[in-house]
Amino acid sequence: MKHFLNTADWSRPELQAMIDEARILKTSPHGDALKGKTVALLFLNNSLRTRTSFDVGAKELGGHAVVLSPSGGMWPLEFEDGVVMDGEAEEHVKEAAKVLSRYCDMIGIRAFPKFVDWREDRKDKILNAFATYADVPVINMETITHPCQEMAHIMALQERLGDLDGKKFVLTWTYHPKPLNTAVANSALMIAAKFGMAPTLLCPTEDYILDERYIEQASKDAGAHGEALTISHDIDEAYDGAEVVYAKSWGALPFFGNWEPEKGIRDRFKHFIVDEEKMAKTNSALVSHCLPMRRNVKMTDAVFDSDNCIAYEEAENRLHVQKAIMKALVG
Ligand code: CP
Repeated sequence: MKHFLNTADWSRPELQAMIDEARILKTSPHGDALKGKTVALLFLNNSLRTRTSFDVGAKELGGHAVVLSPSGGMWPLEFEDGVVMDGEAEEHVKEAAKVLSRYCDMIGIRAFPKFVDWREDRKDKILNAFATYADVPVINMETITHPCQEMAHIMALQERLGDLDGKKFVLTWTYHPKPLNTAVANSALMIAAKFGMAPTLLCPTEDYILDERYIEQASKDAGAHGEALTISHDIDEAYDGAEVVYAKSWGALPFFGNWEPEKGIRDRFKHFIVDEEKMAKTNSALVSHCLPMRRNVKMTDAVFDSDNCIAYEEAENRLHVQKAIMKALVG
């Protein structure tokens, strides 16, 4: 039994096989590959795309999805081992994972960081607890990485560009009024490197460099393809000749849990918005964002609504790649 927790756990050919399967499912969406199968989708955070695409995808392949969330009446869960459960939690993850495994064939988990202590959040405790105690495959629906988003992005890029090897890929930090999760940024950098692109991380200052775990993984994968990860704080240099621009905002890790001083820094870099002037420096780059996205804060209307923007294709591909992932896990 294999979980889908992180693309780093899967080889490029294995991931490519799922994307190839997703391409088939895109042209022929209905089937019975998940006939009689049920996936439990546990959302500890909000969602539009992930929730809908997993639910629709399971049904299109003859399966069934059960959506669980604390606001939907689920018992509050405890994730720490060995604690005296005299607080809010009524049920331990050990029982929840075991019991769900008796009803369901897969379990999807969305659990964002608590944004208090990155040293704790980077352990990805909730996802790993389910992976440890469940007797069925577990799928990461976004925790501190977002592997399903990565897969949809690569599929969309391949649809437009074909071979991705050697393409200049720029992950650019953008402003947002709140400090956001680094999950999509971690994932974007890793998958770009894994699929042979030349990745650049563009961010305002050293404080916005991503966790060393993902920097190291991306550097290793880039090196294996004869490329190198570039970290830049220079907008002109990063956009110059780019073939892919991926926009995302995230909070600076050194300020985790102490966000007030970080806001002062973040507010100085609103000009990192993806706009036509910056895109003009690229090599007619494709541009995308995982969504949801604040228009004219992270990216201008003109760029988002241009033919070079593949955000809708990427969002649609979530449906197809997740069907391929579910099929691979229970096949
Ligand atoms: N991109 C993404 O995961 O969207 P949702 O948060 O709406 O699921």
